[in-house]
Amino acid sequence: MKLEVRIERTSAPKVHPPETDLGFGRHFTDHMLLVDFHDGAWSDARVVPYGPLSLDPAAAVLHYGQAMFEGAKAIRGDDGAVRLFRLQRHCERLAQGAPRLCMPSPDPAMLAHAITELVKVEEAWVPRARNTALYIRPTLIATEPFLGVRPANQYLLYVILSPVGSYYGGDTLKPVRIWVETQQTRAAKGGLGAVKAGANYASSLQAAMRAKKDGYDQVLWLDGAKHEMLEEVGTMNLFLVLGDELVTPALGDTILSGVTRDSIITLAKARGIKVTERPLSLAEIVEAHASGKLKEVFGSGTAAVVSPVSELVTADRRMIVGDGVGPIGQSFYDELTAIQRGARRDEHGWLTAL
Ligand code: COI
Repeated sequence: MKLEVRIERTSAPKVHPPETDLGFGRHFTDHMLLVDFHDGAWSDARVVPYGPLSLDPAAAVLHYGQAMFEGAKAIRGDDGAVRLFRLQRHCERLAQGAPRLCMPSPDPAMLAHAITELVKVEEAWVPRARNTALYIRPTLIATEPFLGVRPANQYLLYVILSPVGSYYGGDTLKPVRIWVETQQTRAAKGGLGAVKAGANYASSLQAAMRAKKDGYDQVLWLDGAKHEMLEEVGTMNLFLVLGDELVTPALGDTILSGVTRDSIITLAKARGIKVTERPLSLAEIVEAHASGKLKEVFGSGTAAVVSPVSELVTADRRMIVGDGVGPIGQSFYDELTAIQRGARRDEHGWLTAL
């Protein structure tokens, strides 16, 4: 299914920021994509000049939080061409998650097509420097003005674009120090954890802020019931190297099915590395650290790709992991980013040309 995308170009294009100082999510391009949902159907897909949205103060999203988002990337290759990385998979994840929030699912192919049209309009905004990208942020919100508590019947799907630099602000990965959070929870069983709902990120902020104040970069999230099982790290999926095995917590309703997580599992299997998705307890990690079996810990996500963990700290122990940036985490970062910029063969069909 393809929805025709109307294009209204801006008469006041912005000056592009210097590529050496992009940061993450600070700059936005000239246009955005809007698609309405009402009377049971999506309509009026349009690329319009970037600007504030007009929302009724009673819009359901502002009261009861029917909101979710995605994060994908367009990358300019060494050859100058722009490629979208697993855009269809991101659109599918949005479509699969929407029903959990009683929101309508856009057709993934329709959404991927509309986003591609937007990125074509903004092609010049895709930065050229190594480790930069155009970050794509689709967002779905309930717009019906109504204060009764029930699913809204009007929605807006919008997509904004942000030229971003390396998550670490340099060319090298920077290891992070992690506080193991045993009080607060990111997501509860039966809750929203498997969906990219804004609410999950709101829920994570206070513990993350407390950890930052105490000198840590992020927190390790444990299960909400007993705080015994490992779930995610910061806003990322979690990987551990235990001996010669790559292990990641099995997906469930408290863990987001990360696109980068899936990509790393696929690359690892192709290399012949043993990969296991299973429940992982904090007690097992403490033991693995004591016995020397815990070689590496890293997070995976679209924004940073790979985020190596150098320390895991609990109230009663400090576990130093490897020598900072571990070789396995670094190798997945190198391989994935090389595929993204067209410098390595795309054997899994993850890239689409503009
Ligand atoms: C990602 O790792 O891509 C994320 O989900 C973080 C994002 C919310 C900035």
